Amino acid sequence: MNQFTIERANQFIEENKHLVNPQYRPQVHFTAPIGWINDPNGFIFYQGEYHLFYQHYPYDAIWGPMHWGHAKSKDLIHWEHLPVALAPDKDYDLGGCFSGSAIEKDGKLWLMYTGNIQNEQGEPRQIQNIAVSEDGIHFEKIAQNPVLTEADLPEGIVPADFRDPKVFEKDGKYYAVIVARHVDGVGCVLLYSSDDLIDWQYESIFLKGTKEQGEMWECPDYFNLDGVDTLLMSPMRFERDDLSHHNLNTTVVVKGKVDWEKKEFIPEQWDELDHGHDFYAPQTLEDDQGRRIMIAWMNTWGRNNVTKELDHQWAFSMTMPRVLNWRDNQFTQTHVLTEAHLAAETMDDFSTNQAKLLVLQPKKQADFELRVGSANDYVSIRYEKDGNAVYLDRENLRIDLSGEENEPVNQRGFRVKEAQLAKLEIILDTNSIELITNDGTATLSSNIYLGEGIEPVVTLWNGDVEITSYVIQ
Ligand code: FRU
Repeated sequence: MNQFTIERANQFIEENKHLVNPQYRPQVHFTAPIGWINDPNGFIFYQGEYHLFYQHYPYDAIWGPMHWGHAKSKDLIHWEHLPVALAPDKDYDLGGCFSGSAIEKDGKLWLMYTGNIQNEQGEPRQIQNIAVSEDGIHFEKIAQNPVLTEADLPEGIVPADFRDPKVFEKDGKYYAVIVARHVDGVGCVLLYSSDDLIDWQYESIFLKGTKEQGEMWECPDYFNLDGVDTLLMSPMRFERDDLSHHNLNTTVVVKGKVDWEKKEFIPEQWDELDHGHDFYAPQTLEDDQGRRIMIAWMNTWGRNNVTKELDHQWAFSMTMPRVLNWRDNQFTQTHVLTEAHLAAETMDDFSTNQAKLLVLQPKKQADFELRVGSANDYVSIRYEKDGNAVYLDRENLRIDLSGEENEPVNQRGFRVKEAQLAKLEIILDTNSIELITNDGTATLSSNIYLGEGIEPVVTLWNGDVEITSYVIQ
């Protein structure tokens, strides 16, 4: 009998979700009903609603044999939990149903995901599988699985690191970008094609990285946005550059051009996608309004797990979804909050127990500092005119959030792309902060855990800044 099944997972969640301690649970960031989450998977607009699947281990607040959790939403802010979609219950995914994506075909919802397994010699292998649903809730793994194995790899690829398929359609054909480790010790994106989502052919090495660009990449996403070929990825051990890539597991947005004859992505420009401590494995969808929307795991590998240490029975969340664009050659990420989600409040009757959007407008181009928390347990958000940079500093939090990277672990920052910081938006939600500058030209996402009884009071510590606050509802 299989140890892990969908039925067992759903029953466990139903019977145990009341045990979750809500102290640090965010209000508008997505979290699982109980247990652990990592990457967003299968993010898709399907039959009028946004569906989000995610890497999930329901039985403990730690990474374990991966299931796919599932939820849906009408507005990307309020989510309804659905039954677990995939459990690692077949010999082609026994070590975990790893990350993957979704696509609609003939009205059905198709998932392509990585099966993490061991071969007969006990060596790790990663292979690709398909599951299909008629109702968008119950998924059937197809009889033809696995649909891609090490036999489908080009020369020079390590078969233990071949994962995270992202499917898309182009000119009536299906394609999948899948990451892999090259024996040269660099990351690769491989391109596969299919007419029916079942029978897949190897096409090309879409992109091969250099040593500076990381030893392996994870979770690729390719799309053409506003006329620009765009690749998102999560590289491991990308070389640091000024304030960028201080996390050992970082994320990049690569602007380029695809040569569809050769099926190669020609990169032109690499940028860090988000500059915070806690942002990884983003995935995008295109909705019925033609918006390209991204959501990411609001954590990265190697951080300590505060809610597990405190036995709160859950761990980690997603970021808020963001709309992506290329505007005047500049990549932008804007939040999806509309007037209907925002209720203005004054700083005098500022309630500390609700998620907020704060909009800061500096009255002059000068340093400022905002603190969230109490006098001796706070996170600091600073603008420094010298260097034109924004920083978030966790040094004065009493609950230490370490990481496996070299110093500085506490501080993250970025240089403002424009000559001036005209606007800084702050999304503050219980245990997390997301910063967005100047209508989306840079973002920074970091978790914070204020000590027991400490409220997230917002204080302008220094500077001349106008602050408008909205409760997110
Ligand atoms: C990224 C990742 C993926 C993998 C999944 C396993 O965070 O390592 O590459 O599919 O998590 O949970």
